[in-house]
Order: sequence, then C-alpha cells, then structure tokens
Amino acid sequence: MIPDEIISEIRSRADIVAVIGQHVQLRKAGRSWKGLCPFHGEKTPSFNVIPDKSFFHCFGCQKNGDVFTFIMELEGKSFIEAAEQLGQRFGIEIPRVEENPEVRRAHGERRSMLEINKLATQFFREVLADPKRGEAGRAYLEKRGVGAEITDKFQLGYAPPDWHGLVDFLKTKRADLEIAAKLGLVAKQPKAGGYYDRFRDRLVCPVVVPGGDVVAFSARVIGKPPPAADGSEPPKYINSPESAIYKKGKHLFGLYQAREGMQQTGRAVLVEGNFDVITLHQAGFNQVVAPLGTALTLDQVQMLKRLAGAIVLLYDGDKAGYKATMHALQTCVEADVEVLVASRPGHARSGGAGPLSGGVDPDSMVAGGGAEQLRDAIKNAQGGIEFFCFEVWGKARTNADAKTRALEEVGKLVGKIENPIKRDLVIDTFAKALDTDVALVRNAVARASGQGHRGPAQGAPQRHPNAPSSSSFASSENTPEREKTPGPPPIEEVELLSLLADHPHLLATPEADNAFWLLTDTRLRDMYSAARDGRSLLAQTSTAVQNLPSPTIKALLSGRYVEAKDPSALLAQMTRDLGHRKRMTQRRELEKLMVEAQRRGDRDMARKLALAAEAVRKGDFELVDQLMAEIASNRKQAE
Ligand code: GTP
Ligand code: MN
Repeated sequence: MIPDEIISEIRSRADIVAVIGQHVQLRKAGRSWKGLCPFHGEKTPSFNVIPDKSFFHCFGCQKNGDVFTFIMELEGKSFIEAAEQLGQRFGIEIPRVEENPEVRRAHGERRSMLEINKLATQFFREVLADPKRGEAGRAYLEKRGVGAEITDKFQLGYAPPDWHGLVDFLKTKRADLEIAAKLGLVAKQPKAGGYYDRFRDRLVCPVVVPGGDVVAFSARVIGKPPPAADGSEPPKYINSPESAIYKKGKHLFGLYQAREGMQQTGRAVLVEGNFDVITLHQAGFNQVVAPLGTALTLDQVQMLKRLAGAIVLLYDGDKAGYKATMHALQTCVEADVEVLVASRPGHARSGGAGPLSGGVDPDSMVAGGGAEQLRDAIKNAQGGIEFFCFEVWGKARTNADAKTRALEEVGKLVGKIENPIKRDLVIDTFAKALDTDVALVRNAVARASGQGHRGPAQGAPQRHPNAPSSSSFASSENTPEREKTPGPPPIEEVELLSLLADHPHLLATPEADNAFWLLTDTRLRDMYSAARDGRSLLAQTSTAVQNLPSPTIKALLSGRYVEAKDPSALLAQMTRDLGHRKRMTQRRELEKLMVEAQRRGDRDMARKLALAAEAVRKGDFELVDQLMAEIASNRKQAE
C-alpha cells in the first residue's frame, strides 16, 4: 500500500504531458494537448491531455484517466509498478510501507524476473556481438538478410552452444538462479543440483512489451542441433514457459517494435512466424506482429485494436495458414475490429485460394524479391467478411450438403458479431453471396447461437435473455391493469430505448447492462432482451412491439438521438435518472409491503424485504428484482 498523500503528490508533480508524450505525439491546443489516441486507431486526434487536471480523455473511445491509469493501461503495469516508475522519474520517494507479505513477495518476484530477463538479453546480445563467440549467430542473421539495425531494434541475441554461458553470467551478476529457472532460461541438473543453460546454439528473440520490459524469449535453432536424449529432433523454437510475467496468448511478438508503424499506417499486419516479423521489418514493413505460436486470441486482437484501426491477416499460403486465417477472422469479428485478408495480387478472388497461395510465407516472398508484391497485397487486402463470403461461396455452389455446411460456418461467424445492425447487414450480404433466402441465413445464425457458439460480450455477462422477462413490480398489486390493457410505458424508459435504438453499440456497455434492470415496462424489457440477443431492437414482428401504443413506436423510430453529440454520456445520465426514480418508487413499495408483513407476522417476508431495501440502497437492481420476484410468489402462495 502506498499512502494517499504520496499518490496525490505523484499525480500533481508528474508531468502528464511528458509521460504521455513518450507514447503519443501531442500538440498544444489552448489549455490542453491533443494527439492520436494510443488506445484506439484514429485518423484525426480526439485524444486530449489536460495538464491542469492531470487528466487525459479520448472523445473517440471514451478512455480517460490520470498518469497512473495511462501507464497501467499502456504499459501493462500494476498500480505499484506505475507509482514506482513515476516516483523515480519525478523524484518522489515512495516509502517502503508494510505490505501484505504475499503481495510483496509477488511484486518482488515480478521485479526480479524482469531484472533477470534484462540481464539475459544483455548477455545474448553481447555474445552475438562478440567476434568469436557470436560468429554462428551473425552468420545465420546474414543468411536471412537481417541487418544491424533490425538486430538492434529487436534486441536479437545469440545463445552460445556451451551449457553454462548464461548460468556463469547470471552468477557474476548475483542473480537468483531459481527465478531464472522459473523463467525457463536455465534448468536444474537432476543429480548434481547445479544449473545449466536451456537455450544453446539458438538465435534468441526477446518478447518486449510496450513499456520496454522483456517478458519472455523465443529462441530459434540455427544449424543442425544434436538430437535430444531420447533421440527425437529438438524443437525449432523454444519459448519461455508461462510465469508471473508471461501468459500465453496475452502477448504478441513485435508489438513493442511495431507500435509506431501501426500508428502511422493505422494497420496492424499479422503474420504467423517470428521470423516473418523480423524479415518484414527488415524489408520496411514496420507494422508487423505475430502471435508467438498460439492461435490468435481475443486478448491479442484487443491489444491490436487499441493501436490500429484495422488488422490485416497475412498468414502462410498453406493449409495451416488457411485454417489459421479462418480462425483469426472469427476472433477479429468477435472483437469487432475491422479485419482484412491480404491476398497475392491476381489471386484475390480465385475462390478457395489462401491468403497467400502456393504454400508461400511472407518471409520467403520478401526473400525472393517480392517486397513490392507484398506491399500491394497488404494495400489491396480485402474485407474479412468479403473474403469469408468468397470462401464460403467457393465451397457452397457445388451441392446441397456443401451449402448446409457453408451455412453452418456463416452462422458461427455471424453469431460473433455483437452489433445487431452490423449483423443484419452481414446476413444480407451472405444471403446474396450464397443466393439464398435471408431467413435461411438468419436461422443458421440462430442455430449456431443456440449451440453456444456465440460467446458473451467480454466483461458483459449475458444474463438478460434468461432474466425474468417482466419486472416483479409490473405484476405486483399496484399495476395489475398493465397486464390486461397495457398503457403507454414510462416516457423516460422509452427515451432510453430510443437512444439504444439509435446507438446499438451502447448495448454492449456496462451502463446499458445496468439500464436493463431499471426498466419497469415488460414490453420494453422484452425488446431490450431481444436486442441483446442480437435481434433488431425494432423488429416489427416482435410481439413486444405490437403491444406498444403507436406514439411509443413512433418515438422509438424517430431517430431523435442519431445526431446526439455524446450518446454514452446521455446513456449515463438517463441511467442515473432512472435509477433515482426506481429507488424512490421501490422504497415506497417496500415500506408498504413491510407494514403488511409485520401485520401478518411474516418474518421470512420481512427478512427478504429488508434485504431488498439494502439492495435498493446499494443500487443493485438485479438483486432487487430477484428478491421481489420471490416476494411476489410468496405472496401469491400466501393468498
Ligand atoms: P522460419 O522457419 O525461420 O521461417 O520460422 P518462423 O518464425 O517463420 O516459424 P514457423 O512459421 O515455422 O512457425 C510459426 C511460429 O510458431 C513460430 O514463430 C513460433 O512462435 C511457433 N513455433 C514454431 N515451431 C515451434 C516449436 O517447435 N515450438 C514452439 N514452442 N513454437 C514453435
Ligand atoms: Mn517462416
């Protein structure tokens, strides 16, 4: 724990413009500074730094915070690490305060791990530069056409073939070899008990995170390695194991080096291999990264989304590359980021051809003098959905079975699209491409979703479709008529739904999540659930819509919020107001029920009511609803 005074001192003394300026080019605009947001891809600056308030805010992606948040988010550090970094930089001493020993140990270990990785990087680089010891490594780099500049940029190194070079070096630096073993740099000798180097005669590629820390290594064989003890062929790459500082699927090779290029070009180019990254940077493609041997994860896509407007998939032109492209495509669609697939010129629409064809990988294409061709392939990359359409089309046109399978694939992909409007558009596109009825495609999507292919939005639990579809209040005694002859829903709730109809992307936000529980009108709740479920908010077939009076439908269709300047602020405001109203009504209702329960001596009911009152106080309307549903059913039984 760092004392609050120190935290506020750091916040006020740290020059936020200087800190952020390391990552973003800022230009002065009145009292604030403007730049391109580092958290999302954009072409015109909507990222603002306000030094007077030690605050940053992006009007594009709504991200905001202070120096701490910025470093934590952008450099992936913990709060304490961010505080230490800032304290050191701006000369504020951070007192060593009592920390929970477990937490302290964890932090201490993280720190020593980063320190040891730094030492190891230094060692491998020194060996590579050594005229004698580094010869093999340098020869290999030369063979692959990697020059000094890129070698430095990637901090490439060479692990010597002997079994103790790194161990000896770490000993002279008095590093903790047990931690080095956890990092997979060294291993324990089973009998003698000492340590030996795990990387031998390998080219070592450090995995550097945006803050500059080395969190792992990926070490490629060079030359012909001796077979392992069991006679098997040693692996091409040895990667660091997972540790406190490295989690598989959470990092990208080349991210540190590609960040600037991505911001310049607005695109992230994704390749399969580390060496593709290195040689493509060598050839001047400085926005290239690779997923470190794993299938592309949602975490990785989201990191890229923060840096670039679009992701270009440039996988190998073989079968594995094709499969990986299809998988990556789905992950990108799920993350709602623009995704493009690079095809070799002339092969773009050959149907069934991979991103590159003929088994070529981007590295060998460049090596074969095809840099220009590759540049075109990246420039002319086609939309991912379009690519998928042609793929599906290519497979489907032959027969009915193929069509069925194709529809299944479409269902899986489209089911990943969160935005209902976008989803409708894509369904239309597919229906046209497949020359089938829209309803068929729609059914395929519904089936795929039913089978659980559609993951819930990240961080936003998808509980609404299963939630009780009517508020317990709607069926409680003061609104019995509503069930029979429904009147107009409360105007505030209609406004909220209108806003969501005009800005469906807001449906995926936590505010919208809360808003659901604030709706008292059954029909509006049903519409909301349908929208969350991916159906159009205003689908005319919905019985919910049919039961609404026409002025309400008109209001919902009016599009009055389309032009709203700051829809998410509006949503927050509406949610606050609705919450306030709901609190008041519920309090009154609870009081009434409490009197009744006490009169009847119903203790169980009184206890539930007290719980509900507490939930109302805390604003946990989901819990309130649950309790009220129970209470309502108890009361029914009691009658
Ligand atoms: P080159 O053959 O030098 O062009 O290597 P590459 O980096 O292009 O690798 P390749 O296309 O063969 O494989 C893609 C990625 O998968 C590599 O960059 C590694 O991250 C990972 N990978 C490949 N082989 C192995 C292996 O044997 N073990 C592990 N752990 N990962 C591997
Ligand atoms: Mn390769």
